[in-house]
Amino acid sequence: MTTILHIKSSSNLDSSVTRQIGGTTLTELKQTHLGAKIIERDLLKNPIPHVSPEFLGAMYSGQNDAPALALSQELIDEIFASNIIVLEAPMYNFNIPSVLKAWIDHVVRAGKTFQYGAAGPEGLVKGKKAIIVLGRGGVYSTGPAKPMDYQEPYLRAILGFIGITDVETIYIEGVGMGPDKKAEALAKAEQRAHAITHKEAA
Ligand SMILES: Cc1cc2nc3c(=O)[nH]c(=O)nc-3n(C[C@H](O)[C@H](O)[C@H](O)COP(=O)(O)O)c2cc1C
Repeated sequence: MTTILHIKSSSNLDSSVTRQIGGTTLTELKQTHLGAKIIERDLLKNPIPHVSPEFLGAMYSGQNDAPALALSQELIDEIFASNIIVLEAPMYNFNIPSVLKAWIDHVVRAGKTFQYGAAGPEGLVKGKKAIIVLGRGGVYSTGPAKPMDYQEPYLRAILGFIGITDVETIYIEGVGMGPDKKAEALAKAEQRAHAITHKEAA
């Protein structure tokens, strides 16, 4: 059975485009993976705290079963339990929302999701697929603002660092450039969500 980890990070609970397209992606995946188990992490409704001194103390002293690392372990277990990760990320100030960064700080852990060996760092999360849903007010996939995109390259880098290299993107960009551009971006993203999920099932 397929397990899908669905991560939401937009602060907009009413009209978020990443929540909308992430939802479409989930609906499509449920059609191509009948009976799939869904693990949902809404980082706005249930925020992950910043890394605490207790977290650091337990991590650096190797007390992996310390209470301060319990949430981190739970989040890591959710990743390992999943086959597909749908990760929604609006662009906030050219990067990802801080609630998503807090989740990343909890799941990227030496000895758990990566390790250093003779050949350098090695990701330990193998065989997963990630679909990242990227909302942007402007356009960054091409054109003059491309160098300001610290969202997609960062997500690809950090996912790759823990071993997740099979990454598909769904852009919803230009949503701040008027209603027509927003409608166009949403229509394109809906099509892309369908194409990716059905290709993935083929
Ligand atoms: C705090 C904040 C910062 C933002 N920073 C940027 C930015 O740097 N570049 C950009 O193109 N859009 C920016 N936006 C616009 C969002 O990326 C855009 O509205 C996107 O649709 C948000 O996704 P959502 O509708 O799922 O929340 C920002 C929005 C907010 C709320």
